[in-house]
Amino acid sequence: MNRYIFIAFLILPHLGPQPWAQATLAEAGSKAGIHIGIATNSFNVTGNNAAYQTVAKSQFDMVVCENEMKFQPSEPSRGKFSYQGGDKVYDFAKANGMAMRGHNFLWHSQSGWAQTYNGSRTEMLSIMKTHIDSVGGHFKTKILEWDVLNEITSDGGGGLRNSFWQTRIGDDYPDSAFVYSHQVIGGNGFLYYNDYGAEGLNAKSNSIYALAKRLKAAKIPIDGIGLQCHLSKGLNAKDISANIKRLGELGLRVSMTEIDIKNGTSQDWTNLMGACLENFNCVSFVTWGLDDAISWLGSGCDCLLYDGQLKPKPHVQALIDALAKADPAVAEQRKKFAAGGGTISIAFRRQAANRPPSGGILGASPAPEFSIGPGAAIDALGRAHAVRAPLWPGISPLPAPTAVPGN
Ligand code: G3I
Repeated sequence: MNRYIFIAFLILPHLGPQPWAQATLAEAGSKAGIHIGIATNSFNVTGNNAAYQTVAKSQFDMVVCENEMKFQPSEPSRGKFSYQGGDKVYDFAKANGMAMRGHNFLWHSQSGWAQTYNGSRTEMLSIMKTHIDSVGGHFKTKILEWDVLNEITSDGGGGLRNSFWQTRIGDDYPDSAFVYSHQVIGGNGFLYYNDYGAEGLNAKSNSIYALAKRLKAAKIPIDGIGLQCHLSKGLNAKDISANIKRLGELGLRVSMTEIDIKNGTSQDWTNLMGACLENFNCVSFVTWGLDDAISWLGSGCDCLLYDGQLKPKPHVQALIDALAKADPAVAEQRKKFAAGGGTISIAFRRQAANRPPSGGILGASPAPEFSIGPGAAIDALGRAHAVRAPLWPGISPLPAPTAVPGN
């Protein structure tokens, strides 16, 4: 071999990433300021699943538990908590420098004993607070984005779904869920409401927009909306982009949280990514599973980025190419917004879980206090609570919430 080629082979690897080197989804996403993630399970990320784990940790920089952090698995009986599934997924994330989503505190499904417990408003608020305090307290510094609420809007739009939480507590239960979450999570993570069938512009997304607007106006600590993105071939990316944009105008982050595209083409995948890239407030792009073999839609689906044999579909390279062409100005705006308003520049790729004090609104100074509007954030004793904006962890602990006269 020519001695110069030999020398080059010795030197090149020490010159940092070579531009012609195959970027990964996570590397391309990091440049654009977008976390690229997968839903997974503790049994996927432990044991002898080497092929799965190699793809997961090399291509993605965000994970979320598909089931193990939901109400029933994490509180199988009242007051008894189990965190082992989430802990194992977190250990995998931490070992591989990945961020993590927490899915979810409150849902009408997979909520075990609570679903059939016919408690009073006060008792259900106490059950809600205990669950959030326990699970949120355990994972407090480990989760970047929390799905505080999951699927709370009725499918036809027009307000809240008649879930057991809504019928037993009332229409202000979302307010309390966010305030209880903020009281335990503080500045360590962002608080989301996550739903399906509301990605574009329709009656349901209009209803979600109206709810988000009310919560923001009442200074309830909501940070983001999760668009689940259980979509199909021929998706309407234009409407999705418009929906993300209007949520950004409310100061809200948007994460695409459970993406699968039934029979999706590479064009569909890049169109969806485009709807995220166009909007600085779109910060995460998470598929609901790594490969078709373990999709909730059944192993026969053609719906994820990797096929049933863990082979990458052309969609992977198409997404990497789309991310590489991201507008650098929007990417910079996104990184500042995602880090909480530009007050802190965080090494995006290994983003710290701690959130800066500004509450994630671009350019906003840290809100001195979330004042609680009427009928909102009622605790188990019927009192409204004012909570302070989060401070950097490690600074003197926040003063206890000051109870204000109940409504
Ligand atoms: O854990 C039990 C196991 O002990 C039992 O042996 C087995 C057979 O009955 O069931 C296991 O529970 C299953 C659970 O997944 C864990 O594997 C449930 O039956 C099954 O219904 C559940 O399905 C999950 C579904 O949510 C529940 O509604 C899917 O895996 C999960 O992908 C899906 O995810 C939801 C999101 O959380 C919210 N958005 C929609 C999305 C798709 O439905």
